[in-house]
Amino acid sequence: MKGHLSYQIYSFWGLLPLWILCASSTNTCTVRHEAADCSHLKLTHIPDDLPTNITVLNLTHNQLRRLPPVNFTRYSQLTILDGGFNSISKLEP
Ligand SMILES: *[C@@H]1O[C@H](CO)[C@@H](O)[C@H](O)[C@H]1NC(C)=O
Ligand SMILES: *[C@@H]1O[C@H](CO)[C@@H](O)[C@H](O)[C@H]1NC(C)=O
Ligand SMILES: *[C@@H]1O[C@H](CO)[C@@H](O)[C@H](O)[C@H]1NC(C)=O
Repeated sequence: MKGHLSYQIYSFWGLLPLWILCASSTNTCTVRHEAADCSHLKLTHIPDDLPTNITVLNLTHNQLRRLPPVNFTRYSQLTILDGGFNSISKLEP
């Protein structure tokens, strides 16, 4: 019984860093050289915490329904926006 309990405690603390890693990586984009990769993150909203100087924003394979222009105003340097593989039903100017 005692051995079983300590095994459970061990596996809990052993898995915790992994869980934190997964939890933090599911909702953060990878930013590399002013290009933000936000693909495959199940996003329903456009991230508003990325560096404002990004030029590429990859939003592919998410669950976005709309791409309101107002949500991109902070990214004034943006030249490439990839919005493929989402559930976009309406595209605004
Ligand atoms: C756009 O930004 C507004 C205000 O921050 C937010 O409430 C809304 O959910 C955002 N929409 C999308 C599709 O990201
Ligand atoms: C873009 O912003 C990031 C973080 O704010 C900064 O580290 C980087 O040097 C900036 N890049 C350019 C080209 O301004
Ligand atoms: C965005 O990411 C997808 C897959 O992760 C890739 O196929 C696509 O080429 C990328 N788009 C851009 C503009 O980098």
